[in-house]
Amino acid sequence: MLIAVDGPAASGKGTIAKRLAAHYGLAHLDTGLLYRAVGLATIDKQDAPDFESLAIAAAQNIDTTRFDEEVLSTAEVGLAASKVAQIPEVRKALNTLQRDFLQKPEGAILDGRDIGTRICPDADVKLYITATSERRAQRRTDQLLARGLDVTYTSILQQIEKRDKDDRENPAGAFFQAEDAYLLDTSKLSIEAAFQAALEIVERARG
Ligand code: C5P
Repeated sequence: MLIAVDGPAASGKGTIAKRLAAHYGLAHLDTGLLYRAVGLATIDKQDAPDFESLAIAAAQNIDTTRFDEEVLSTAEVGLAASKVAQIPEVRKALNTLQRDFLQKPEGAILDGRDIGTRICPDADVKLYITATSERRAQRRTDQLLARGLDVTYTSILQQIEKRDKDDRENPAGAFFQAEDAYLLDTSKLSIEAAFQAALEIVERARG
Protein backbone atom coordinates (compact mmCIF):
# COMPACT_ATOMS: atom_id res chain seq x y z
CA MET A 1 0.00 0.00 0.00
CA LEU A 2 1.28 3.45 -0.92
CA ILE A 3 -0.05 6.43 1.02
CA ALA A 4 0.68 10.05 0.06
CA VAL A 5 0.28 12.70 2.76
CA ASP A 6 0.62 16.34 1.72
CA GLY A 7 -0.05 19.68 3.34
CA PRO A 8 1.48 22.97 4.47
CA ALA A 9 3.95 23.50 7.32
CA ALA A 10 2.81 22.36 10.78
CA SER A 11 -0.54 21.08 9.50
CA GLY A 12 -0.02 17.84 11.43
CA LYS A 13 0.86 15.82 8.30
CA GLY A 14 4.14 14.52 9.73
CA THR A 15 2.58 13.21 12.94
CA ILE A 16 -0.34 11.67 11.06
CA ALA A 17 1.98 10.02 8.52
CA LYS A 18 4.20 8.63 11.29
CA ARG A 19 1.24 7.18 13.16
CA LEU A 20 -0.31 5.69 10.02
CA ALA A 21 3.05 4.10 9.21
CA ALA A 22 3.22 2.54 12.69
CA HIS A 23 -0.40 1.38 12.44
CA TYR A 24 0.05 -0.36 9.07
CA GLY A 25 3.69 -1.42 9.59
CA LEU A 26 4.87 0.63 6.60
CA ALA A 27 8.12 2.51 6.08
CA HIS A 28 7.75 6.29 6.40
CA LEU A 29 9.70 9.09 4.74
CA ASP A 30 9.32 12.71 5.84
CA THR A 31 10.40 14.33 2.56
CA GLY A 32 10.57 17.79 4.17
CA LEU A 33 13.66 16.52 6.02
CA LEU A 34 15.43 16.01 2.67
CA TYR A 35 14.86 19.65 1.69
CA ARG A 36 15.74 20.76 5.22
CA ALA A 37 19.06 18.86 5.08
CA VAL A 38 19.98 20.60 1.82
CA GLY A 39 18.83 23.94 3.30
CA LEU A 40 20.98 23.38 6.39
CA ALA A 41 24.03 22.40 4.34
CA THR A 42 23.84 25.72 2.47
CA ILE A 43 22.31 28.00 5.12
CA ASP A 44 25.44 30.17 5.40
CA LYS A 45 25.94 30.34 1.66
CA GLN A 46 22.62 31.82 0.52
CA ASP A 47 24.33 34.97 -0.78
CA ALA A 48 27.21 33.14 -2.44
CA PRO A 49 27.36 33.52 -6.26
CA ASP A 50 27.51 29.72 -6.61
CA PHE A 51 24.67 29.08 -4.14
CA GLU A 52 22.64 27.02 -6.63
CA SER A 53 25.49 24.68 -7.55
CA LEU A 54 26.34 24.21 -3.86
CA ALA A 55 22.71 23.31 -3.14
CA ILE A 56 22.59 20.90 -6.09
CA ALA A 57 25.80 19.20 -4.92
CA ALA A 58 24.37 18.92 -1.38
CA ALA A 59 21.19 17.32 -2.75
CA GLN A 60 23.16 14.86 -4.88
CA ASN A 61 25.33 13.82 -1.94
CA ILE A 62 22.72 13.76 0.81
CA ASP A 63 23.29 11.21 3.58
CA THR A 64 19.97 10.37 5.22
CA THR A 65 21.68 8.26 7.91
CA ARG A 66 23.19 11.40 9.42
CA PHE A 67 19.98 13.40 9.83
CA ASP A 68 19.54 15.13 13.19
CA GLU A 69 15.79 15.84 13.27
CA GLU A 70 16.11 18.26 16.15
CA VAL A 71 18.58 20.47 14.27
CA LEU A 72 16.60 20.14 11.04
CA SER A 73 13.28 21.14 12.62
CA THR A 74 14.05 24.81 13.40
CA ALA A 75 12.13 27.62 11.67
CA GLU A 76 15.35 29.01 10.10
CA VAL A 77 16.15 25.66 8.50
CA GLY A 78 12.52 25.51 7.26
CA LEU A 79 12.99 28.81 5.43
CA ALA A 80 16.33 27.65 3.99
CA ALA A 81 14.58 24.44 2.85
CA SER A 82 11.91 26.33 0.91
CA LYS A 83 14.66 28.35 -0.79
CA VAL A 84 16.57 25.29 -2.06
CA ALA A 85 13.21 23.65 -2.96
CA GLN A 86 12.92 26.24 -5.76
CA ILE A 87 15.96 24.88 -7.61
CA PRO A 88 14.81 22.34 -10.24
CA GLU A 89 18.06 20.29 -10.06
CA VAL A 90 17.74 20.00 -6.27
CA ARG A 91 14.19 18.69 -6.69
CA LYS A 92 15.39 16.26 -9.38
CA ALA A 93 18.07 14.75 -7.09
CA LEU A 94 15.65 14.48 -4.16
CA ASN A 95 12.86 13.08 -6.36
CA THR A 96 15.07 10.14 -7.30
CA LEU A 97 15.62 9.35 -3.64
CA GLN A 98 11.89 9.56 -2.90
CA ARG A 99 10.93 7.36 -5.86
CA ASP A 100 13.49 4.74 -4.73
CA PHE A 101 11.84 4.74 -1.30
CA LEU A 102 8.51 3.88 -2.96
CA GLN A 103 9.90 0.60 -4.27
CA LYS A 104 9.66 -1.19 -0.89
CA PRO A 105 7.70 -4.43 -1.43
CA GLU A 106 5.32 -3.79 1.48
CA GLY A 107 4.66 -0.21 0.37
CA ALA A 108 5.38 3.10 2.06
CA ILE A 109 4.03 6.37 3.39
CA LEU A 110 5.60 9.62 2.27
CA ASP A 111 4.67 13.05 3.52
CA GLY A 112 5.52 16.37 1.92
CA ARG A 113 4.11 18.89 -0.55
CA ASP A 114 4.06 17.13 -3.93
CA ILE A 115 3.74 13.45 -3.04
CA GLY A 116 0.20 12.94 -4.35
CA THR A 117 0.73 15.16 -7.39
CA ARG A 118 4.27 14.36 -8.61
CA ILE A 119 6.17 11.78 -6.57
CA CYS A 120 3.48 9.17 -6.25
CA PRO A 121 0.48 10.12 -8.41
CA ASP A 122 -0.73 6.48 -8.32
CA ALA A 123 -0.82 6.26 -4.50
CA ASP A 124 -3.58 4.01 -3.13
CA VAL A 125 -4.71 6.75 -0.76
CA LYS A 126 -3.93 10.47 -0.80
CA LEU A 127 -4.50 12.78 2.13
CA TYR A 128 -4.22 16.54 2.10
CA ILE A 129 -3.86 17.78 5.67
CA THR A 130 -4.43 21.43 6.43
CA ALA A 131 -5.21 23.88 9.25
CA THR A 132 -5.45 27.66 9.60
CA SER A 133 -2.09 29.46 9.59
CA GLU A 134 -2.80 30.76 13.14
CA ARG A 135 -3.41 27.24 14.45
CA ARG A 136 -0.31 25.91 12.69
CA ALA A 137 1.82 28.74 14.06
CA GLN A 138 0.55 28.08 17.58
CA ARG A 139 1.36 24.37 17.32
CA ARG A 140 4.86 25.00 15.96
CA THR A 141 5.53 27.66 18.62
CA ASP A 142 4.44 25.26 21.39
CA GLN A 143 6.68 22.49 19.99
CA LEU A 144 9.74 24.74 19.76
CA LEU A 145 9.16 26.34 23.19
CA ALA A 146 8.83 22.86 24.72
CA ARG A 147 12.28 22.11 23.33
CA GLY A 148 13.67 25.20 25.05
CA LEU A 149 14.08 27.27 21.89
CA ASP A 150 13.69 31.03 22.10
CA VAL A 151 10.78 31.72 19.69
CA THR A 152 7.65 33.89 19.65
CA TYR A 153 4.23 33.15 18.15
CA THR A 154 4.44 36.26 15.96
CA SER A 155 7.78 35.36 14.39
CA ILE A 156 6.69 31.76 13.77
CA LEU A 157 3.41 32.95 12.18
CA GLN A 158 5.40 35.26 9.88
CA GLN A 159 7.77 32.43 8.92
CA ILE A 160 4.90 30.03 8.24
CA GLU A 161 3.09 32.59 6.07
CA LYS A 162 6.28 33.35 4.14
CA ARG A 163 6.91 29.65 3.57
CA ASP A 164 3.27 29.09 2.47
CA LYS A 165 3.63 31.89 -0.07
CA ASP A 166 7.03 30.71 -1.36
CA ASP A 167 5.76 27.13 -1.65
CA ARG A 168 2.54 28.23 -3.40
CA GLU A 169 4.52 30.28 -5.91
CA ASN A 170 7.51 27.93 -6.23
CA PRO A 171 8.79 28.45 -9.81
CA ALA A 172 10.00 24.82 -9.86
CA GLY A 173 6.34 23.75 -9.50
CA ALA A 174 3.77 25.28 -7.16
CA PHE A 175 2.08 22.96 -4.67
CA PHE A 176 -1.60 22.12 -4.75
CA GLN A 177 -3.99 19.49 -3.47
CA ALA A 178 -4.25 16.48 -5.79
CA GLU A 179 -7.74 16.19 -7.29
CA ASP A 180 -8.18 12.73 -5.81
CA ALA A 181 -6.81 13.60 -2.33
CA TYR A 182 -9.03 13.55 0.75
CA LEU A 183 -9.01 16.88 2.54
CA LEU A 184 -8.60 16.81 6.34
CA ASP A 185 -8.71 20.12 8.23
CA THR A 186 -7.08 19.62 11.64
CA SER A 187 -7.64 23.19 12.90
CA LYS A 188 -10.10 22.10 15.57
CA LEU A 189 -8.76 18.59 16.19
CA SER A 190 -6.38 17.20 18.82
CA ILE A 191 -3.51 15.06 17.50
CA GLU A 192 -5.40 11.92 18.51
CA ALA A 193 -8.64 13.05 16.83
CA ALA A 194 -6.73 14.04 13.67
CA PHE A 195 -5.05 10.63 13.53
CA GLN A 196 -8.39 8.82 14.02
CA ALA A 197 -9.96 10.92 11.25
CA ALA A 198 -7.05 10.11 8.91
CA LEU A 199 -7.26 6.42 9.77
CA GLU A 200 -10.99 6.37 8.99
CA ILE A 201 -10.32 7.99 5.60
CA VAL A 202 -7.64 5.42 4.76
CA GLU A 203 -9.84 2.51 5.88
CA ARG A 204 -12.77 3.80 3.83
CA ALA A 205 -10.55 4.34 0.79
CA ARG A 206 -9.18 0.79 1.05
CA GLY A 207 -12.79 -0.38 0.89
O1 C5P B 1 7.46 19.70 5.48
P1 C5P B 1 8.50 20.70 5.93
O2 C5P B 1 7.88 21.91 6.51
O3 C5P B 1 9.54 20.10 6.79
O4 C5P B 1 9.24 21.15 4.57
C1 C5P B 1 10.22 22.14 4.53
C2 C5P B 1 10.22 22.81 3.16
O5 C5P B 1 10.71 21.87 2.19
C3 C5P B 1 8.84 23.22 2.63
O6 C5P B 1 8.48 24.53 3.05
C4 C5P B 1 9.01 23.12 1.12
O7 C5P B 1 9.57 24.32 0.60
C5 C5P B 1 10.04 22.02 0.94
N1 C5P B 1 9.44 20.75 0.55
C6 C5P B 1 9.19 20.55 -0.80
N2 C5P B 1 8.68 19.36 -1.23
C7 C5P B 1 8.41 18.39 -0.36
C8 C5P B 1 8.66 18.57 1.02
C9 C5P B 1 9.15 19.78 1.45
O8 C5P B 1 9.44 21.45 -1.62
N3 C5P B 1 7.94 17.22 -0.81
